[in-house]
Amino acid sequence: MEKKRFYITTPIYYPSDKLHIGHTYCTVATDAMARYKRLTGCDVLFLTGTDEHGQKIEDKAKEAGVTPQEFVDRIVTGPKGVLDLWKLMDISNDRFIRTTDSYHVTAIQRIFRKMYDNGDIYKGKYVGKYCKPCESFWTESQLVDGKCPDCGREVVDAEEEAYFFRLSKYADRVQHLLEDTDFLEPRSRVNEMVNNFIKPGLEDLCVSRTSFTWGIPVDFDPGHVVYVWVDALSNYITALGFMNNQYDDYEKFWPADVHFVGKEIVRFHSIIWPAMLMSLGEPLPKKVYGHGWLLLDGGKMSKSKGNVVDPYILAEMFGVDALRFFLLRTFPFGSDGNFSNELLINTINVDLANDLGNLLSRTVSMVGKYFGGTLPEDQAEDPEKDAELVAMASALRGRYEEQMEKFQFQNALAEIFKVIDRANKYIDENAPWVLARDMEANGPRLARVMYNLLETLRISAVLLTPFIPGSAAKVLDQVGACQGCRTWESVGEWGALSRTVTVSRGENLFPRVDMEKALAALEAKAEEAKRAALPDLELEPQLTEKVDFDTFCKSDFRAVKVKACENVKKSAKLLKFTLDDGTGADRQILSGIAMWYKPEELVGKTLMAIVNLPPRKMMGLESNGMLISAVHTEKGEEKLNLLMLDDKIPAGAKMC
Ligand code: MSP
Repeated sequence: MEKKRFYITTPIYYPSDKLHIGHTYCTVATDAMARYKRLTGCDVLFLTGTDEHGQKIEDKAKEAGVTPQEFVDRIVTGPKGVLDLWKLMDISNDRFIRTTDSYHVTAIQRIFRKMYDNGDIYKGKYVGKYCKPCESFWTESQLVDGKCPDCGREVVDAEEEAYFFRLSKYADRVQHLLEDTDFLEPRSRVNEMVNNFIKPGLEDLCVSRTSFTWGIPVDFDPGHVVYVWVDALSNYITALGFMNNQYDDYEKFWPADVHFVGKEIVRFHSIIWPAMLMSLGEPLPKKVYGHGWLLLDGGKMSKSKGNVVDPYILAEMFGVDALRFFLLRTFPFGSDGNFSNELLINTINVDLANDLGNLLSRTVSMVGKYFGGTLPEDQAEDPEKDAELVAMASALRGRYEEQMEKFQFQNALAEIFKVIDRANKYIDENAPWVLARDMEANGPRLARVMYNLLETLRISAVLLTPFIPGSAAKVLDQVGACQGCRTWESVGEWGALSRTVTVSRGENLFPRVDMEKALAALEAKAEEAKRAALPDLELEPQLTEKVDFDTFCKSDFRAVKVKACENVKKSAKLLKFTLDDGTGADRQILSGIAMWYKPEELVGKTLMAIVNLPPRKMMGLESNGMLISAVHTEKGEEKLNLLMLDDKIPAGAKMC
């Protein structure tokens, strides 16, 4: 029988800033869904990628002094770039699209032309507002308090010749799609779309720009580049081979089963995207699911908070699976959730270390201790004592499936942990250590108790595979599950695990995390990452204001030799210098450089000083002049070097 197909996508990411745990959230959720569908036997295509055009990228590349292509290449394929992150997070995407891929570029030009040829794209003049960071055009009436309704930032006036897409023509069909079908979920997002965008009147959409060049040129009017959202949304079909020869999967996989997208881009996916497809005469995706945001301290995650939520740091500290698990176990997918490290550690400790980890290590070690690692054939059921656990574990796949089909990851995991909790209770109820006191009488019963625990662990671990693929496989290894009892079919009923199974005790898969130590370590790592991200070298900008030569010549710079140097009492900064300035009388200068030099290392050195500054008192001591030093900033830290002269220069020599 042919396998059922399942095509799932994540939004393609802007390679403008480093990805944080919020971006990781959606991709991990998509990955869990894709793995679940593969487990159930579907032929899955999971697509992700990067959205690489637009003014924001062009501006950032300019800032960085590289071409836009070099800029995106570094962030996508460079070290710790997007591809590395997905590898680290064990993301099982089948395809990765970059909107700079040449097949995509060609396909976008064809798509644009087709919509132009059918009259849905026309040339006009754009007058309105533009939000640079979001790359979104807005009409005056759509602004909120004069600012971008999506991100709340300033918008700028924009006027230019542009192509427009007749979005207004599709308003009724899109409204019907949203209101009368389950195209957009959760349902709560439907009202927002209809009331905020469709009912006030859907205006035609500006779909080309002439004010920058980093985009896909309209091939029949090359001064124009295609609006980045038209370019980006089409990735879902170009990656299948639509209007290009790179792939041949369009017939097989389109329409997509679901696009997972963050709530702020639901508008593009549920209004503009279906209208574009209607214009092209192509089928619509079956569903768009708008998930919530992970918030930090109640607000949006941002670059400035980046180090706190760096997935590399979190995965390194807690492990990739723990991080994946936390994201999907803690927050309901459709709503916003508050991220915190405390919550992350708590979830690891309660669910993974305490509940699952303990159940596994207790069970496997008891099978080792009481049966030498292999259960005997002779086992005694006790229907009364076993019934509830067996019933719960047997029904688990169905309950889990019901939640997974609705993308309710949190609930699906809750179902698994109900069973795991029940199994832990089952250990206490059956007190294997008491049964073990008389193996002759109780051996068969003890063997059955152990079997029931292993079987529960097996079923749970198979269903956990989409969430924690690496660890779930290790759980299955430890409980002795054969390949045949790691399948979807095998968890549909109780008893697939061999009665005489052999366990293999392994590492502790989910060690408990010491909250205080871990929080301190995280803070230190975030600090370290912040420093590492600082520029290597920062120099004071040069002054542009000119100083005339005569004024400059009024400054009397001399070579001075250090006769004595000591710390000024009660001052952490000041050093007191006694200097030979060539006049025969000692000169005293105070200098705030104690952070960088020890007094004894300066005695005997030849330095440079300006000697005709008016005297100045510091800490009750008089300073007559100033020593000259070079200052710069390295990795955020101020550095100072005294200007040291050749010792053969005599004290008092004038610098000119
Ligand atoms: N390039 C567009 C998508 C084009 S799809 C045709 C884009 N990229 S993005 O990099 O800014 O965001 C990618 C996804 O990450 C979005 O779905 C966005 O909602 C999601 N998230 C970014 N920050 C997030 C959180 N803090 N929490 C959850 N998801 C978040 O938009």
